[in-house]
Amino acid sequence: MLLLKYIIIQTVKQFDLKIRCLLYNQNMKKLYIETLGCQMNKSDSERIAGILSHFGYEEITDEKDADLLIINTCSIRQLSADKAYSQLGVWGKRKKTHPDIKIGICGCVAQQDKASIRKRAPYVDLIFGTHNIYELPTLIKRIENGEKVCAITNNPVICNQNDFKIQRKDSVNAWIPIIEGCNNFCTYCVVPFTRGRERSRRPEEIIEEAKNIIKQGFKEITLLGQNVDSYGKDFNDKNITLANLLRELNKLEGEFRIRFVTSYPSDITDDLIDAVEECSKVCKYFHIPMQSGNSHILEEMNRHYTKQQYYEIVKKIRNRFPDVAITSDFIAGFPGETEEEFQDTLDAMEELELDYSNTAAYSPRAFTKAGKMTDKFLSEEVKYERLNRLNEKNREVCLKSNEKFVGKTLKVLVESKTEKDGKIILNSRADNNKIVHFEDETKDVGDFTNVKINKAQTWCLYGEPTV
Ligand code: SAH
Ligand code: SF4
Ligand code: F3S
Repeated sequence: MLLLKYIIIQTVKQFDLKIRCLLYNQNMKKLYIETLGCQMNKSDSERIAGILSHFGYEEITDEKDADLLIINTCSIRQLSADKAYSQLGVWGKRKKTHPDIKIGICGCVAQQDKASIRKRAPYVDLIFGTHNIYELPTLIKRIENGEKVCAITNNPVICNQNDFKIQRKDSVNAWIPIIEGCNNFCTYCVVPFTRGRERSRRPEEIIEEAKNIIKQGFKEITLLGQNVDSYGKDFNDKNITLANLLRELNKLEGEFRIRFVTSYPSDITDDLIDAVEECSKVCKYFHIPMQSGNSHILEEMNRHYTKQQYYEIVKKIRNRFPDVAITSDFIAGFPGETEEEFQDTLDAMEELELDYSNTAAYSPRAFTKAGKMTDKFLSEEVKYERLNRLNEKNREVCLKSNEKFVGKTLKVLVESKTEKDGKIILNSRADNNKIVHFEDETKDVGDFTNVKINKAQTWCLYGEPTV
């Protein structure tokens, strides 16, 4: 009975979607999306633009011409949330002289602040949460009819994402979200509150999306998840794992490569490492945020590993893949962090020879445990002084990491071209995620090739074509 009800609902939804497309296609409108935050948001924006294209919205890059302006927001730090509100302010001013434009806000700030956004920005027409993207066909109709809409639920709309078009931005790499949400509740982090609990997509759906991507000519697939290695745990089927998904995707025909981000340190299984080794299309690259180099702070952060366990994981991966790159994230100035504890973070970055790290000063977030540790908060001055030292160490360690590749040959994928002093420079990325610049008139965007590295700088490598 339930199944029958589900089939009827899905059929009606599809029918409704097709009728709307026919009606709307006559009259193209212009859509501008500003995307802040992580790759998951970038992927969501591609999906939003794809869905809206069914309704006559063409995505443009100049916001001044837009009929519909959407900001896809991030609330990981206060600075990111502030950016969203200041952009809304600019658009709100424009609406005074252009009352026909519609303004929308979505993403993590929308999910977090919900209808209260309207108190700060009453001119906003549409507020929708991270779980409500697939309701856009109805929401867009309502705002076009002059309604002010706020659609935020805590439960995601369940659908087959492949029923909707995706307007991918990049011509070489395609994102595939495979798991969304987070169950870890690190004490500093807002993500479990903005993205909800972990939900994996069915492997068949992911493989179908991957096949379409390859057919369309993309050369790289990046599997996305806040904790990508938790993939499948919510299915209670021990065969549905990231390792097995990689094995299945690796079997697909064509010349392309596969990445996956972000890995939670203690969720990296031996089976996953085996799969990365077995699968020739899977890049030898791991992004494994450590957050702090001190076990006490890690405990305070509710991270489920110690400094020693993180060191073991890095050692295991480096032993298996000699040219692997391991990147990380660190927070400077977590509440109560002492100078000695911070020193452990600087040491970890160096001792682990991390290839690159994202760094940030701790920012208190709503709903989180650490956000309530107000008596332990460090001053802005201390946090930013530590962040500066962390960045300095990062630069030093990155340069050392890059220098290790001088003289080596790396397989790269050309991502873009730029012209410099009358010469065409190819901008590429190696399997291990290192950025490599070189010249080669015989190669173009989307080509794989080998490059011999002859120069290292802090953030990139230079080389020449080789066989
Ligand atoms: N799921 C990933 C991280 C996702 S959030 C993981 O577990 O590692 C991306 C990064 O933002 C985090 O790695 C962390 O370094 C940073 N971050 C999250 N909350 C923060 C906060 N309140 N202040 C500063 N940085 C934060
Ligand atoms: Fe945030 Fe921690 Fe979840 Fe990563 S694992 S998204 S840092 S709560
Ligand atoms: Fe930001 Fe939300 Fe991503 S808080 S980092 S956009 S999951």
